[in-house]
Amino acid sequence: MSFEKEIARRRTFGIISHPDAGKTTLTEKLLLFGGAIQEAGAVKNNKIKKTATSDFMEIERQRGISVATSVLAFIYNDKKINILDTPGHKDFAEDTFRTLTAVDSVIVVIDVAKGVEEQTEKLVEVCRMRNIPMLVFINKLDREGKDAFDLLDEVEQKLGLTVTPLSFPIGMGYDFKGIYNIYEKNINLFSGNSKSNIEDTIAFDNIDSPELEKIIGENAASDLRDNLELVNGVYPEFDKEAYLNGKQQPVFFGSALNNFGVRELLDCFVQIAPPPRPKKAEERIVDAHEKDFSGFVFKIHANMDPKHRDRLAFIKIVSGTFERNKPYLHVRHGKNLKFSSPNAFFAEKKEIVDISYPGDIVGLHDTGNFKIGDTLTNGEELNYKGIPSFSPEHFRYINNADPLKSKQLYKGIDQLMDEGVAQLFTLELNGRKVIGTVGALQYEVIQYRLEHEYGAKCTYENFPVHKACWVAPESDNDEFKEFKRVKQKFLAIDKRGQLVFLADSQFSLQMTQQKYPTVKLHFTSEFD
Ligand code: G4P
Repeated sequence: MSFEKEIARRRTFGIISHPDAGKTTLTEKLLLFGGAIQEAGAVKNNKIKKTATSDFMEIERQRGISVATSVLAFIYNDKKINILDTPGHKDFAEDTFRTLTAVDSVIVVIDVAKGVEEQTEKLVEVCRMRNIPMLVFINKLDREGKDAFDLLDEVEQKLGLTVTPLSFPIGMGYDFKGIYNIYEKNINLFSGNSKSNIEDTIAFDNIDSPELEKIIGENAASDLRDNLELVNGVYPEFDKEAYLNGKQQPVFFGSALNNFGVRELLDCFVQIAPPPRPKKAEERIVDAHEKDFSGFVFKIHANMDPKHRDRLAFIKIVSGTFERNKPYLHVRHGKNLKFSSPNAFFAEKKEIVDISYPGDIVGLHDTGNFKIGDTLTNGEELNYKGIPSFSPEHFRYINNADPLKSKQLYKGIDQLMDEGVAQLFTLELNGRKVIGTVGALQYEVIQYRLEHEYGAKCTYENFPVHKACWVAPESDNDEFKEFKRVKQKFLAIDKRGQLVFLADSQFSLQMTQQKYPTVKLHFTSEFD
């Protein structure tokens, strides 16, 4: 197959949702359609379980297993589908944000009864900022839930989206009869246990035909007609360009658990979802069709074998082909590296591959060369943009508990930060190190891994910080100097050498902004 065709057939995406909305279940059903797994449960068993929230050892174990589900690839209708796993667990939200830099589109799963939840809001906001094309799947229609129109309103208002339903439910919960597929103009009837008869589809392009009464009954038929009329009147027609530009979001309804509405979603997805999109580097925009290879690290998975500290760096291929044993430039280090066993990922296994194409993810064994955001190229000095850090939620001083092992401790901290486990801030005033994390759980993970992988011991001490704000580069003016002098106690340097203001309260943040209006504070580490 030609290079062009290989690119055109790739669909690399992520599924995002609030925990429990049904992301894992939907992923499994998609894999079943792709023939990539034989039975349900294969992905589920790898999921980080809710019950493990207080047991970080268990989480680490499960994270170890979950490397297998980091990328799930399968072929469907001749399209090569790559699903990038995005942890739903709140404490790993940063992992998810970073993974979103490597997807070309997303599917947002929403629970019909719970509607738009907190985690969905945050994740969708990141996608919206990047104009990532989004499809919405409203799940659990077999249960009583919110009215479909109310939900569509909620999605528009809370998530700031412009939706257009491409399917519409016929009844809900106990009365759930099926789904009218607006995109394909047919009806799917729900038979309670549709796992076995998902092909139960009736073509129906004339909704006014009296046949409708025969199929779904009088009341449901008249409701459906009314609803579809309302859909026509209220929502814009599906516009593929608008979807691809992140300006319109098609919505599907269904029940992942019952395998209902999933095929419709997948069929539409493979038709409309974008192949690998161009990506912004600091220097220029790179197109997938360029012949020269380039890619970037969006995830590092460590601790496969704690004794060897081996790590797997996940590279998203942006342009050209990635070939085994060919030297590529590690731009940050300015040196060439060769990879003898790059891994490609399939549903339940990884395999060594000779060649990979734009949109694909390869896993490279790493002994500490990579950090998140690194770019690899065929020789060009490119630096991919777009892996920002957000303000952590928790902050603690990290202290060395074994003076003889300080070298090990600093090396360990350094490498764990490269992996993106947490963020490190070094205070300007006294050089003390502060670890910032999204969830409290990470402190235990760090302590445990420092001890078991690096032989170092640490303790923590509380450091009350409300928010970390990145300070726009230094200017020479008096206000900036005054700010630095007065706020010295709250200033730190992050891992990239950027100046950060650690505000101890919302009030002090506001006061600082008022008092020093020319000092620009940002809530992510990347700004223009
Ligand atoms: P997540 O990855 O988004 O966290 O959600 P997951 O797929 O694990 O689903 C969360 C729960 O919702 C699971 O139940 C799952 O079976 C259920 N679920 C998913 N899709 C549907 C659906 O279409 N209808 C209904 N009624 N339930 C659905 P659980 O009890 O937490 O787990 P399990 O014991 O079933 O594994």
